[in-house]
Order: sequence, then C-alpha cells, then structure tokens
Amino acid sequence: MVKVAVVGSASIDLIVTASKRPLAGETLIGESFHTAPGGKGANQAVAAARLDAEVDMIGCVGDDAFGKEIMDNFKKNGVSVRYVEPVTHCPSGTAHITLAEGDNSIIVVKGANDYVTPEYVKQAEESLHGADIILIQQEIPIETVEYVATFCDRFQRKLLLNPAPARKLSEKVIEYATFITPNEHEFAVLFGNENRSKVLAKYPNKLIITEGSNGVRFHNGKTEEVIPAYQVEPVDTTGAGDTFNAAFAVAVAEGKEIADAIKIANRAASLSIKKFGAQGGMPTRKELERSL
Ligand code: ATP
Ligand code: RIB
Repeated sequence: MVKVAVVGSASIDLIVTASKRPLAGETLIGESFHTAPGGKGANQAVAAARLDAEVDMIGCVGDDAFGKEIMDNFKKNGVSVRYVEPVTHCPSGTAHITLAEGDNSIIVVKGANDYVTPEYVKQAEESLHGADIILIQQEIPIETVEYVATFCDRFQRKLLLNPAPARKLSEKVIEYATFITPNEHEFAVLFGNENRSKVLAKYPNKLIITEGSNGVRFHNGKTEEVIPAYQVEPVDTTGAGDTFNAAFAVAVAEGKEIADAIKIANRAASLSIKKFGAQGGMPTRKELERSL
C-alpha cells in the first residue's frame, strides 16, 4: 500500500443546477440545490484513499457544522485526519458551484483553508517524510506551496503540484516539483504566450497538461505525446481533475511508467464524471481495475 500525503483545501460544495448561467444583474429560477464534500485537497485525498492508498490529509476546517461534515466524510472514506484541525471562529471553506449548459463555474471562499500555513504544515513533517508522494493544489496560501516545494527538494520527496485554481508560480517551485498538472487555462496563466510544445519539451515527464475530453499532453523525453481521454457521457465533470491527479499519483507511487499512469488516471477520471458531485463518482480500486 503506497503512502500519500495531501496538503490542501477541504470544503463543502454548494451546488445549484440551472438551465443557464445568470448575466450580471439578472435573477434566474434554478432547478435544484445540493451540498456535497469538496475542496481540491479533500477530493484528491478521498480519490487516493478509494484507490487503496494510505492517505494523510493535512488541512484545516472551521468549527462549524460544515467542518464536522468534512471530518465525517474523511473518516468514512478512510482518510487519516490526524493532521486536520478545526480552526475556531472561522467558517469552513465553501465552493459555490453553478452547473449549467454542460459545464461548471465555481467561486471558492477559502475560509479555514487559509490557515493551512507553512507553520501549520511543519507539525505534519513526519507525514511528508514518510509519504511516497505528496499532492498539493492552490486553494491554500501560496507561501505553503513554496514551503512544501522547498521541503520536497531538500528531502528528495516526490511532489505533484496541481496548479489549480490558476496562479503564477515562481521558477523555483516549478523546478522543485516532480510533476505539474495544469489544465489548458492554468497552463496559459503559468506560461503566458510561450509556445506550448517548447514549454513541454523544457519539462519532459514533468509537465502534464490535462485537456478534458481531448486527453492529456506531455513530453516523454523524445517526443510530445497525447494520451486520449475515454469517451463517456458526462453527468458532472466537477472533480475530474482531482480524480486524475490522485489516480496518477497513486499509479506513479506504485512504480508505473508515466504514460501508463496517465492511462489509468484518464480511466479513473472518466468514471468520476459519470456521477453527480466532485466525489460522487470517484472509483474504488476494484471499480477502476474492473473497467481497465
Ligand atoms: P476540474 O473540472 O476537476 O477542474 P480540470 O479542468 O482540472 O478538471 P480536465 O482537463 O477538465 O481538468 O479533466 C481532467 C481529466 O478528466 C482529463 O484529463 C480526462 O482524463 C478526464 N475528463 C475530463 N472531462 C472529460 C470528458 N468530458 N470525457 C472524458 N474524460 C474527461
Ligand atoms: O476541483 C473541484 C473542486 O474545486 C470542487 O469540489 C470545489 O470545491 C472546487 O474547489
């Protein structure tokens, strides 16, 4: 069983479905409202645990009802919460999601996720030292991403940085990460107008661009490769990226070659979008193996 540490956000998703998105100043009647566990860090932790990894979540929740729901969900999914702390006088993170016209739009209010500071992560260093791979995203302070990247470089730990939501990164962080997994929009924020193929060739076997239903692009050291996505009819694509990242990380930690790990992760992500909610369709190990 591989060990995974996730440094990241844990939130509750507040999901409205509607036939279209409102324009500025417009009010629409929606179709439904649901709450579900989410947050990129928590999603990746749950996805990895369902694939039978031993997972430590390193994060913060508020001392509110949502915080309790997030903790219960971690426990239900077998994610260790020994490094998840309730922060007093602070609400849990929330993601305000509109599902309309076959896609989602999201506003994240970070709440307690802003307390995942370098000082906070320091008390979980034992977990980082013991992990086969560490996952991090960007719904937590940028200083924490820099701290964890520096830690991973210093102690030679594998780091998968999922640069979502999009935010500029220092050269140093890019250099220290083992894998960086932007979607196309995040790639544009990170590398601006630079030629995509040139950037990919500069970071072989490290920069992995997810392109939704168009597959995954990376440079294998010799040539640029696109690994196709699986053809499925999506119900809700929220969390596809998180499932991809977790499944890829688990596969790499288990010793798979990068192209094979991408194929496995594409399959896991394609299963995840067949059900509602970020975590609703994340496959278990058995479900993933059966479908492969
Ligand atoms: P998220 O919606 O979680 O923010 P993302 O934008 O980070 O996702 P995407 O590139 O949209 O990331 O999707 C990640 C992976 O999920 C893709 O590489 C692919 O394997 C799978 N995927 C996403 N959308 C589809 C789809 N419509 N059909 C098949 N696979 C998909
Ligand atoms: O990646 C999907 C997640 O992003 C959602 O669960 C939501 O919490 C947003 O932060």
